[in-house]
Amino acid sequence: LSAGAWTFFCKFHPSMRGVITVEGVAGGVEPEHTRFEQPLVVPSTRRGADIRLVMRRAKVRTLPEGPRTSMWTYDGTYPGPTIKRRGGRGTEVTVVNRLPRGAGAMSTHLHGDHHASADDGQPTSHLIRRGEGRTYRYPLVVDGRPEPGSFFWYHDHRMDRTARNNWRGLQGMFIVTDPPVPGLRLPTGRRDVPLMISERSFTSGNQLTDPFADGPDMVGHHGEMSWTGDNAPPDDATVGDTVLVNGRHAPYLAVSATRHRLRLLNSSPFSSYNFTLSDGRPFLQVGTGSGLLPKSVVRSSVLLGPAQRADVVVDFSGATGQRLVLASVPAARGTTGDDARETAVMEFRVGRPARDSSRLPSRLPSPRLVAPVRASVAKTWTFGLEESRRGSAWSINGRAFDPGRVDHRVRLGTVERWRLRNTSDVTHYVHVHAQQWRTLLRDGRRPPPWERGLEDTWRLEPGEEVEIAARFTDYTGPFMIHCHMLDHEDHGMMARFDVTR
Ligand code: C2O
Ligand code: CU
Repeated sequence: LSAGAWTFFCKFHPSMRGVITVEGVAGGVEPEHTRFEQPLVVPSTRRGADIRLVMRRAKVRTLPEGPRTSMWTYDGTYPGPTIKRRGGRGTEVTVVNRLPRGAGAMSTHLHGDHHASADDGQPTSHLIRRGEGRTYRYPLVVDGRPEPGSFFWYHDHRMDRTARNNWRGLQGMFIVTDPPVPGLRLPTGRRDVPLMISERSFTSGNQLTDPFADGPDMVGHHGEMSWTGDNAPPDDATVGDTVLVNGRHAPYLAVSATRHRLRLLNSSPFSSYNFTLSDGRPFLQVGTGSGLLPKSVVRSSVLLGPAQRADVVVDFSGATGQRLVLASVPAARGTTGDDARETAVMEFRVGRPARDSSRLPSRLPSPRLVAPVRASVAKTWTFGLEESRRGSAWSINGRAFDPGRVDHRVRLGTVERWRLRNTSDVTHYVHVHAQQWRTLLRDGRRPPPWERGLEDTWRLEPGEEVEIAARFTDYTGPFMIHCHMLDHEDHGMMARFDVTR
């Protein structure tokens, strides 16, 4: 693929077309960085009941040429090792902090999983100081039953510093596997590919830039924040100009002309991507990050904001000899600029057909959704200015995060129905800890088919409103709700709810 503008259309939907600008992708990237020169690396896997991860600085290969990049890693690689466990077979993960002086204390959160408050890797409690370690217990059980097959990820969650710590590299994937389901055979082995997509910017010496160098240091400021629309902090946005896939820029993957399962995760601190394939080949979405959808959905593009995942199957048959590019193109509904860029992400080099024993019925085993909920809305969470114009663009219900303040209480065992609304003029991606949720309504209507499974992170455009429901099981204690655009989170767009008996 050479530099220049490159037009593609969808052969299934000829009116759909797009342009990928390869040179100057994401402004200022050296053209040589947008050739697909390095093979995709799939992180090593850990499967034990007792796993140890040491957070340490390491030099890792990110760009195809020149020096390696010094990053903060889980166990020496970026992404860290992928943890794989069968639902119901718990594991304990001990995370040790051997990061350089100045990195500070850390907190590792397993995003999407259901576990105790003390094992949640929260922003201010149970921190892992330098030289120390902490063991997190993940039973992989929900309400007495094995957690469904899921695509989770672990990442740092330290208050005020989450954007920095994730940018530096503290991210890894976690796959909960399912027992076999009769009639359903998703592609496995080398045809099941987890893809962590995340952007960074680099200096000419291949080192990470430091977007946090001149920004306001948020540490310790939450107590005194009383921002209003007029004195709001700058809208820091930790965006990069170079997209990495499993830690490498513009990789390629040789695939047979068969079906492949791609587990897509956007772990960028701030940006979203609207994924498409360059010949318009559709994605068959079978799941969210939190289990299967009730029915698979054919999609020509998949929009994922920070922390969102999609479990998709791509059929490469008929493409032997072709090079297909996974790219991000502007989203039809993108209103805020955060997803307006065109970026080539990676390349699939399609080889010969091969035996394919996958089986994909359109009806899938149904996810464990709470029964249709008649309960009235127990809590409304407003992201952005309230009608009273209290708070800032980065507050929830008019207030910035205070770890010592309980913003809502939930009774263990009850079903809660929550309303999430965005009253600001930018998009937010709202994430809730503790449970997996059913999406009841999006803007008053039944949610789109890809939002009918379990979810933990929702896109909310300006003015949008989503209603969700979950039953609170197993664990009491504090948990978090926050925007997963990490600059917003670090600016205080986070709240605490406590589950009580
Ligand atoms: Cu992915 Cu509260 O985090
Ligand atoms: Cu936000």
